[in-house]
Amino acid sequence: MIDEGRQGEALMTNDGGAGKRKLYLESYGCQMNFADSEIVASILKNDGFTTTKDFHEADVIFVNTCAIRENAEQRVRNRLNEFKQVKRKNPDMIVGVLGCMAERLKEQFLDQEKIVDIVVGPDAYRDLPNLIAKVEGGQKAVNVILSKEETYADITPVRLDANGVSSFISIMRGCDNMCSFCVVPFTRGRERSRDPHSIVREAQELFANGYREVTLLGQNVDSYIYAGGGLKKEILTEEQRSSATTFAQLLEMVAQVHPDLRVRYSTSNPKDMTDDVLHVMAKYDNICKYVHLPVQSGSTRLLEVMNRGYTREDYIDRINAIKRILPGCGISSDIMTGFCTETEEDHKETMSLMEWADYDFSYMFAYSERPKTLAERTLTDDVPEEVKQSRLAEIIKLQQKLSAAKTNAAVGKVHRVLIEHESKKSPDMWMGRNSQNNVVVFPKGNYKKGDYVNVLAESCTLATLIGRVIE
Ligand code: 5AD
Ligand code: SF4
Repeated sequence: MIDEGRQGEALMTNDGGAGKRKLYLESYGCQMNFADSEIVASILKNDGFTTTKDFHEADVIFVNTCAIRENAEQRVRNRLNEFKQVKRKNPDMIVGVLGCMAERLKEQFLDQEKIVDIVVGPDAYRDLPNLIAKVEGGQKAVNVILSKEETYADITPVRLDANGVSSFISIMRGCDNMCSFCVVPFTRGRERSRDPHSIVREAQELFANGYREVTLLGQNVDSYIYAGGGLKKEILTEEQRSSATTFAQLLEMVAQVHPDLRVRYSTSNPKDMTDDVLHVMAKYDNICKYVHLPVQSGSTRLLEVMNRGYTREDYIDRINAIKRILPGCGISSDIMTGFCTETEEDHKETMSLMEWADYDFSYMFAYSERPKTLAERTLTDDVPEEVKQSRLAEIIKLQQKLSAAKTNAAVGKVHRVLIEHESKKSPDMWMGRNSQNNVVVFPKGNYKKGDYVNVLAESCTLATLIGRVIE
């Protein structure tokens, strides 16, 4: 899930910082990338760095990049050009590209455009201190090797601020799905899961430090499986599988850390989501009743072209399972318009499925062709841009209607809310979320960040509930 509000955010730590070298680290893309930036900050902290929010005073500027769509890459390119201007005045400043654009664009960035000194892929962050030293010695530095083992399990990420309430924990890396539109298997490599005990330990530490919510992150959490390390595809024997930790088991282990620690996760995949995960969710009050289950398209024919591994009917079956096992559960989706060969008929099927599923929320995109993907190699990007955009506008309009109805229906009810931070609109109000992930704002009273409160929703805007605390 890509949070538009966080794109280009600079990571800040509060470690004093006097006399240290300064790192400016800006991040794009999904939550996993933001979690990776905290790992990068941790590695560089041990190498004598502190963070800054002002790139003009930085010794090192890193941009943690996203390659999911053309416009994500374009945004980063524009930003790199800005940094190039600053570097012109301060030639000792090091500029580097991290993350998902690294592998594909290394030659272009280093040799042709000469805009950066360092290019580092998502599995090579432990090498950063060496690479920085290399640049300081006058060389260019690059490491985009994708790993079979790396999960950064032993690295405690540097958190944005020590009194936070909610935090992300990466539970796996890479993706083995090979959806025909998606660049992720090429940028982040093969799928591997992280040792469950290191995940539980991280959740325990967060709870001890005052955190009250963790979100477990993976490209496809349902296929999490840990049998001692290495690639998922190398877990071959029946014996290895039967003694392995599955996602349902991991979720239960994290839920047991403390009843006051809320647990969320993202992202599920319709072809892998099993009922046992839903039953674990039903069993624990502190596992939030919210599932992000991207459909991409409502047309079985198009799902096949996308290589998604499920049909419209399979998807409907999964939504029915959620509604049966977890009544009232929030459900959201990712939807793409204008993928190769998409017809008006396919588009209508997407619209009808959205209406049937009655999503609380959707992330919606127009398809953009990505290098190396199956679609780029074997299909024609044949839906005209205007058509992609007009279909996108239609699904956005439909989703707004669905979301508004959902928010309205939540008015008049009492919601258990975890207080996250001050409302952006008013210093007198708190902002938090209910289990279904709706945003709720209410007068502060004597409550504080990290408290759980029961809020009666009295009114709403399009996507926010407004209410007051009841005892
Ligand atoms: N073009 C447009 N959207 C894409 N997504 C993934 N690849 C592409 C692409 N090439 C969307 C999918 C995915 C979300 C993270 O981004 O909907 O679920
Ligand atoms: Fe995340 Fe995908 Fe973007 Fe990489 S390309 S940052 S995995 S959304």
